[in-house]
Amino acid sequence: MTMDLLNNWLSQLEKINTINDLNNFKSSILGKSGIINNEMKKISTMSDDEKKEFGKNINQLKQTIEQAISNKRAQINATYIENILKQDKIDVTLPCVNSSIGNRHIISTYISRIKDHYTKRGFTVIEGNEVDTDFFNFDALNIPAHHPARQESDTFYIDGYPDTLLRTQTSTAQIHAMLDIGVPIRMISMGKVYRSDNLDITHSPMFHQIECLVVDSNPISIRNMKSEIQKMLAFIFDTNIQNIAMRLRPSYFPFTEPGVEVDCKYKKLDDKIVLSREGDKWMEIAGAGMVHPNVFSACKLPTNLFGFAFGMGLERLIMLKHGINDIRILCEH
Ligand code: PHE
Repeated sequence: MTMDLLNNWLSQLEKINTINDLNNFKSSILGKSGIINNEMKKISTMSDDEKKEFGKNINQLKQTIEQAISNKRAQINATYIENILKQDKIDVTLPCVNSSIGNRHIISTYISRIKDHYTKRGFTVIEGNEVDTDFFNFDALNIPAHHPARQESDTFYIDGYPDTLLRTQTSTAQIHAMLDIGVPIRMISMGKVYRSDNLDITHSPMFHQIECLVVDSNPISIRNMKSEIQKMLAFIFDTNIQNIAMRLRPSYFPFTEPGVEVDCKYKKLDDKIVLSREGDKWMEIAGAGMVHPNVFSACKLPTNLFGFAFGMGLERLIMLKHGINDIRILCEH
């Protein structure tokens, strides 16, 4: 009886080609009131020997059909993806029907606004390389080989090139600038960074950072840094510098000494965050600090220079400002 039953199921399974039908089929056999459970009820009327034999058979039957169902599921999914890929084929050589349709992505809009603004203020604005070496992403930023951030679990390395990676932070551009431009430097680096996080409501394996670096042989202090952060936030959040209440909390970044975390006062207006002196709560907004002397020496510069750097996640700022509560919206649209 088991062989007949199994063959019958397998031939039904062969005809199934949607996940919905597969789920119905599965519950008709393996569900609470499915065939297998009904068969199991017979066991109470059997002798011990019969029970043994029956139990063995039914378990085998169950395992075989479970395996067959899961193979079928994989096959349906693979066909589904194959079809989507076929349908989604885009002929990039076709002429544009109406080039006025559509808008610039909000992230690109911010990037070009920030670029314009800082270029006018005399800063060098660079996007830098997304693929870089561990020297620029880690060593030169005073992140030694044993640092947890260097582990593969956080960083995407390029197959076959053990010292090449997708940058995890725009701070790589600090090193390029110090080596290529020399001192003094007033720069903004902006662009994509990559970390092997799963995509969820607040994380994305790719996001954008914006970072500022100022280096000079004349004294630069934390007060200069604070004022520059205030200016950037006022620009991004479209408000006056006087409206931004900021506090610095001691923190640690290998490439800064001292390092701080920057909090701002805010209030909520219809889910949107407004940075405001009148706010009653603080929110962490950026990482910052004075450039660590080891970073200067890695860039072959004198260690008695003065410099500060700060960096923040662009998506997060945009989400706060516009009341967007799921980062995936920004990568899917
Ligand atoms: N690169 C740091 C990060 O990704 C941010 C940062 C930049 C902190 C510059 C301090 C100075 O978290």
